[in-house]
Amino acid sequence: MTDIAKYGPWAVIVGGSEGVGSAFARQLAGDGFGVVLVARNAERLEETASEVRAAGAEVRTVPLDLLSETAVADLIAATDDLEVGLLILNAGANMHGGPFVGSDLDQQQEVLALNVLRQLPLVHHFAGKMVERQRGGVMLVGSLSGYNGSPMEGIYAASKSFLRIFSEGLWVECKPKGVDVLHLVLGVTRTPAMERKGLNFDIPGMAVGEPDDVAAQGLSNLANGPVSIVEGNEQTARWKSGADRAKIVQQAADAVAKIVGH
Ligand SMILES: NC(=O)c1ccc[n+]([C@@H]2O[C@H](COP(=O)([O-])OP(=O)(O)OC[C@H]3O[C@@H](n4cnc5c(N)ncnc54)[C@H](OP(=O)(O)O)[C@@H]3O)[C@@H](O)[C@H]2O)c1
Repeated sequence: MTDIAKYGPWAVIVGGSEGVGSAFARQLAGDGFGVVLVARNAERLEETASEVRAAGAEVRTVPLDLLSETAVADLIAATDDLEVGLLILNAGANMHGGPFVGSDLDQQQEVLALNVLRQLPLVHHFAGKMVERQRGGVMLVGSLSGYNGSPMEGIYAASKSFLRIFSEGLWVECKPKGVDVLHLVLGVTRTPAMERKGLNFDIPGMAVGEPDDVAAQGLSNLANGPVSIVEGNEQTARWKSGADRAKIVQQAADAVAKIVGH
């Protein structure tokens, strides 16, 4: 159960329409939170909002593309009248795979914008208000990909790595001010976005997370920052953090190729 006195009464979930994001919404709503759901696809957003509303929760939807120039200002304006005690930045899967050299640079920069440049002002705004109130929580959703460089998803991996290190610093800074920061590291997770991409979830021995479990682990570890690795992925994270970078990076690249089918 997520403590509404510490993290409520409202939670903003960026990327709250499906997968782990909608699981966060359902679980928080069940604990009495009001939820603000943000995503691009307005139809899917409304479906999730209706489901959560039907369970008795207050819900506000904010359809926007985080990549738009006005996204941060629009979201801040749409939530300005709410006391937001929990910010979850979930949107951020890689949308442009493949080698960096020879790729479309604008697309690569979109990955960076989604996972870093739009996240910083949102954290700055919402965490600032939480620090003033001396309570709250910020969760940045990360990935095992953020533990090593990758030829298939180089900017994505680097941006998740940035988020992990950023979260650690923010955690130290905010802890004495009553605000918890958690970087939740996901391994392969059966989300609709990854199902649409055709990810191979059936590789023998590979841990596959289910959105409800992953969201529950994130919420129950809000106070256990700075980093929480979703169960089943701890050993991989340890291996990826090893000193033999050439071996690790090559083997991790081979593994990613199997999952994404290249
Ligand atoms: N699934 C995995 O195997 C896996 C593994 C490791 C880490 N992760 C991390 O887990 C998080 C969730 O991943 P996911 O697989 O569910 O895919 P995702 O594409 O990040 O989608 C999650 C949510 O974000 C929204 N979203 C995506 N792009 C957006 C944008 N530009 N503006 C506003 N909202 C946006 C989606 O709705 P719309 O599409 O309607 O906008 C959806 O509600 C990501 O941070 C990802 O890096 C996932």
